[in-house]
Amino acid sequence: MMQALSAADAGKLAAALCAVELVEDGMRLGLGTGSTAAWMVRCLAHRAKREGMRLTCVPTSTRTGTLARVLGLNVVTLEEAGQLDVTIDGADEFDPQFRLIKGGGGAHLQEKIVAAASDRMVVITDPSKEVAQLGAFPLPVEITPFGQSVTRARIEAVLAGAAVARRDARLRLVDGKPFVTDEGNLTVDLFLDRIDAPEALDTALLAIPGVVETGLFLGICDTVVIGHPDGRAELRRKGAEPETRRMDLSVVASLPAG
Ligand code: 5RP
Repeated sequence: MMQALSAADAGKLAAALCAVELVEDGMRLGLGTGSTAAWMVRCLAHRAKREGMRLTCVPTSTRTGTLARVLGLNVVTLEEAGQLDVTIDGADEFDPQFRLIKGGGGAHLQEKIVAAASDRMVVITDPSKEVAQLGAFPLPVEITPFGQSVTRARIEAVLAGAAVARRDARLRLVDGKPFVTDEGNLTVDLFLDRIDAPEALDTALLAIPGVVETGLFLGICDTVVIGHPDGRAELRRKGAEPETRRMDLSVVASLPAG
């Protein structure tokens, strides 16, 4: 019997299956973080086992690393893998130029390092994350705990002069306590509503001592896969005509548990 899938999960599965079709035997892969990436890891493990593929996988968070290992994928560090062929990851927003906001799951530092060390970055997503202009999703900025109040004040000063629609910076909390990243850092979420000049904002934020990384991924992603609940996956590649593929969602019954 087919496992009951919510519409959201069906779309994520469609995107994940389509992205995993792009993987070839022998590849070195970056594995993203988040709920869509978790579907991709399950699909990847299933295909790798079924086809006896030799893959080398670099996770972008502790949680993805744990899932990938449990599902039998060959997990190594980025240092061991070196340059990667492709990273497959989710995103919180993407625009027509394939610029992204990431980090809703708090892993954007490792995600950006791994994606930047990859020849290609494939984003797996759903239609709700497509925007004409970035900024509706709060922009995560990872900062060091040391000097955090000074760093936050400087972030606010940058926002005062930035081309954005709203200027609200909040320390991310979980259960009332500061959220701590895999690197032991803090996250400030910037509620901006609309970012008119993402490159300029990124440059200004990264120039602040204490800012480790922003969730803006600019010029990194070259492929977006948009999954739909009916199993369609829209494959958009830079410089190529978009195509639509149909995924068999009944495979969910054969996937290893997430
Ligand atoms: C984690 C991320 C995720 O890719 C992003 O938050 C999307 O997650 P999901 O697939 O659960 O919607 O950037 O840092």
